[in-house]
Amino acid sequence: MSLKPLIEVQQLSKNVSSHEGVLPILNDINFSIYEKETVAILGASGSGKTSLLSIMAGLDPEYLGSAKLFKQELKDLSEDQRASLRKKHVGFVFQSFLLIPELNALENICLPLEISGKLSPLLIDKAKSLLDKIGLSHRAKHYPSTLSGGEQQRIALARAFISEPQVLFLDEPTGSLDLGNGKMIIDLLFELNRDLGTTIVMVTHDIELSQQCARVLTLKGGKLV
Ligand SMILES: Nc1ncnc2c1ncn2[C@@H]1O[C@H](COP(=O)(O)OP(=O)(O)OP(=O)(O)O)[C@@H](O)[C@H]1O
Ligand SMILES: [Mg+2]
Repeated sequence: MSLKPLIEVQQLSKNVSSHEGVLPILNDINFSIYEKETVAILGASGSGKTSLLSIMAGLDPEYLGSAKLFKQELKDLSEDQRASLRKKHVGFVFQSFLLIPELNALENICLPLEISGKLSPLLIDKAKSLLDKIGLSHRAKHYPSTLSGGEQQRIALARAFISEPQVLFLDEPTGSLDLGNGKMIIDLLFELNRDLGTTIVMVTHDIELSQQCARVLTLKGGKLV
C-alpha cells in the first residue's frame, strides 16, 4: 500500500516587501510529506523555517507557486475554509506559545475542544491526564503569566495534542525545555505518531532530535538544500 501525500509543495516561493525593496524569503521549494511521516526542518536562524511552516499549516496564503494540504491549494481557500481545515485536521505549536492569558493551564489545553464544541467531562479527564503526562498536574489552575517558559511550552504542546490532529506542525517544540522535559515531550510526540499515525512536521535546532525523524529537510537562505 502506498502512502498518500498529505502536503505537496511545488515551486513555492515567498517574497516580502521591506524598506529595502522586495525580499525573497522562500525560493523555489519542492517536496511532499506523506501520511504518518515524521519530518524535521533544520536551518540557521532566518533561513525561512517558520515562514515555510506557516504556509504549510494554512496560516499564510501569501505565497507564489503551490502549497497543498489534503489536496487543497491553500491560497485558493477563503479565510473561513482554511480555518475549518485547520480546526478539523491540524495542530500547531508556535515558536511563541500563544497561550490565552485569561485562561488557566487546564482551560488552555481544553480550548480547541471548546472551540469545536466537543468539550465533555470525558475529554476534560483526558486533558487532566495529559497535564499529568507532561508533569504539570500541580499547575492546572495557574495562569500563563505565572508559568515558566518551559511550563508554557508544555501546555502549548498538550493543547495541540488534545484534539488528536492528523498533522501536527511544531516550531522548535523543545526550544524552552531542559533535557529531561525535552525528552518527555519528544517521547510523547513519537508516541502520537506511532499510536495514532499523526504526521509530524517540526522545526528544530536539535540535530539529535532531527535524526529521530524519518526525514530531514534543510533550508539555507530560503532554499531547500
Ligand atoms: N513579514 C515579514 N517582513 C519582512 N521580513 C520578514 C517577514 N517575515 C519573515 N521575514 C524575514 O524572513 C526571513 C525568514 O524568517 P523566518 O521567521 O521564516 O526564519 P526562521 O528560519 O524561522 O528563523 P528562526 O530560527 O530565527 O526562528 C528572516 O530573515 C525574517 O527577518
Ligand atoms: Mg522561526
